[in-house]
Amino acid sequence: MKIYQAKDYNDMSRKAANIISAQIIMKPDCVLGLATGSTPVGTYKQLVDWYQKGDLDFSKVKTANLDEYKGLSKDNSQSYYYFMQEHLFKHVNIKEKNTHIPDGTETDAEKAAEDYEAIISGLGGVDLQLLGIGHNGHIGFNEPSDIYPKDTHVVDLQESTIEANKRFFDSIDEVPRQAYTMGIGTIMRARKILLLVSGAEKADILYESICGPVTPSVPASILQLHPDVIIVADEAALSKMGIS
Ligand code: PGA
Repeated sequence: MKIYQAKDYNDMSRKAANIISAQIIMKPDCVLGLATGSTPVGTYKQLVDWYQKGDLDFSKVKTANLDEYKGLSKDNSQSYYYFMQEHLFKHVNIKEKNTHIPDGTETDAEKAAEDYEAIISGLGGVDLQLLGIGHNGHIGFNEPSDIYPKDTHVVDLQESTIEANKRFFDSIDEVPRQAYTMGIGTIMRARKILLLVSGAEKADILYESICGPVTPSVPASILQLHPDVIIVADEAALSKMGIS
């Protein structure tokens, strides 16, 4: 595990975008595992900027997103499909057919999960998986649990996650209660993982995930067992680690 300390959110975003763009340059037809939420927004903005300057080419890049709210359609402005269009896809030359997100409108949870795993296998697996971390240590929407879910599955979101995500919705009642997410196994099968963490409110959970025991009650702690993890975190998020 390598930890890169960034000064602040912008510096974290730039460092992360550098790592992703190196991946695209080294393997133009790479498979990127992508994430949503506030954390990667600056990274996507930087990638769009470099694309617009002619420094990056997404024409062969394939993507698979971590998760999607169950019940939200692509045109719902809170869906992760919509998020990805707004923050990255519509600004770069990626081909729509090369982008993949779990189908939030699929009501058969088993089918949605199986279909998504088949898509990822069909792509040949993920080369570089981008991750954020929830305040409860979730990665994707793998909430704290007694077990590590292996594959893509449907999850009941925890109250703390619903609370954290209500800022994107008009009211808390509109936040979906369920989501489809890559499993911990799906995430761990990525060849390289890039975890981004920003802000003092993530300092405790980052410390627990990296320095605490590996346990499904802190899902991100499993990353300690992955052979190729890069963490890019800002000083505030690293403040409990004693490495500043
Ligand atoms: P955030 O979410 O980037 O909006 O903090 C991270 C996550 O919940 O994985």
